[in-house]
Amino acid sequence: MNTKAITVYKTGGPEVLTLNEVEISQLQQHEVLIKNEAVGLNFIDIYHRNGINPLLLPFIPGFEGAGVVEKIGAGVKAFQEGDRVAYCTATVGSYCKHRSLPADKLVPLPDDVSFQDAAAMLLKGLTAEYLVHRAYKVHPMEKVLLHAAAGGVGTILCQWLKKIGATVIGTVGSPEKAEFAKKHGCDHTILYQEEDVVAVVSELTDGQGVQVVYDSVGKTTFDVSLNCLGRRGYFVCFGNASGLPDPIPPMLLAQKGSLYFTRPRLVDYCAERDELLEAAETLFEFYRKGLKVEIEQKFALEDAEQAHRYLESRLTKGSSILLP
Ligand SMILES: NC(=O)c1ccc[n+]([C@@H]2O[C@H](COP(=O)([O-])OP(=O)(O)OC[C@H]3O[C@@H](n4cnc5c(N)ncnc54)[C@H](OP(=O)(O)O)[C@@H]3O)[C@@H](O)[C@H]2O)c1
Repeated sequence: MNTKAITVYKTGGPEVLTLNEVEISQLQQHEVLIKNEAVGLNFIDIYHRNGINPLLLPFIPGFEGAGVVEKIGAGVKAFQEGDRVAYCTATVGSYCKHRSLPADKLVPLPDDVSFQDAAAMLLKGLTAEYLVHRAYKVHPMEKVLLHAAAGGVGTILCQWLKKIGATVIGTVGSPEKAEFAKKHGCDHTILYQEEDVVAVVSELTDGQGVQVVYDSVGKTTFDVSLNCLGRRGYFVCFGNASGLPDPIPPMLLAQKGSLYFTRPRLVDYCAERDELLEAAETLFEFYRKGLKVEIEQKFALEDAEQAHRYLESRLTKGSSILLP
């Protein structure tokens, strides 16, 4: 069987995303065949495309999708044809109409969650869940700093932090993004291109610094994040949209106030089947109780190149999806 897909034959800029027809390999015992109804666009897709996170070539990019099971392998018991499902922790390969993947990486999709919302929130929402509950456990009243507060993960993270009762301080690239972040629970926004982030955070925390920084920007925000933390604060470095940060000597963490540093990944926090299902249930529950999934950008799968240009150029807010 053939399917429409975006393939990367060599790493590089958005122009290496090539639309073509590819053959889907024979379904294995433990796999299911899915028809994607919506595909999530995530910054990690850019790291794969440009080679910062190297993958064997050629590959079909994309971690996230939502759709319908069309066929099951002989050994699959938990799913059947026609089931609505979503996924974001399997191997790459979601930029396509049909794909096969291991059944144990699927999340059953409740009827009250649309395919588009699922593709816009599963990866970003599961990330927010483990960041605030497990990589560091945020408590009510704590002061938290996050970068890219109006981005895909940022918009969900702001809402989650607000739900816990934390004070949310977020950096953003424009006044429009500041408004957007505020609408989603960010108490204080900082325009990092105009304001001194460390000074504003110091003022907002009476000179104490924040308990935790969620930094997904990496290279350009690293020192700022370090200098915004209070004593024994947590530096959660979970992305590198601006490039990989330089290595740090352990003594620096001591000098800055006995800080903790972690570089977590979603795949490690949802590695076991029960972790994945539990985290997804927590996310869907929050969705039912008011989590806003903001799909601000929709692109046809054929326009994946344009979608990558937008995301990479900081022109997006909230979530983006591709429609195959
Ligand atoms: N470790 C994990 O488990 C995990 C899981 C999911 C996502 N992530 C990471 O979380 C981050 C957010 O992902 P996302 O898909 O939701 O993307 P996003 O936040 O919607 O987009 C990235 C944002 O980063 C900011 N940014 C600052 N400097 C940038 C630069 N030089 N180039 C590009 N963007 C820059 C921009 O916001 P401003 O204009 O406001 O600065 C931009 O809109 C990414 O770093 C991603 O890798 C990590």
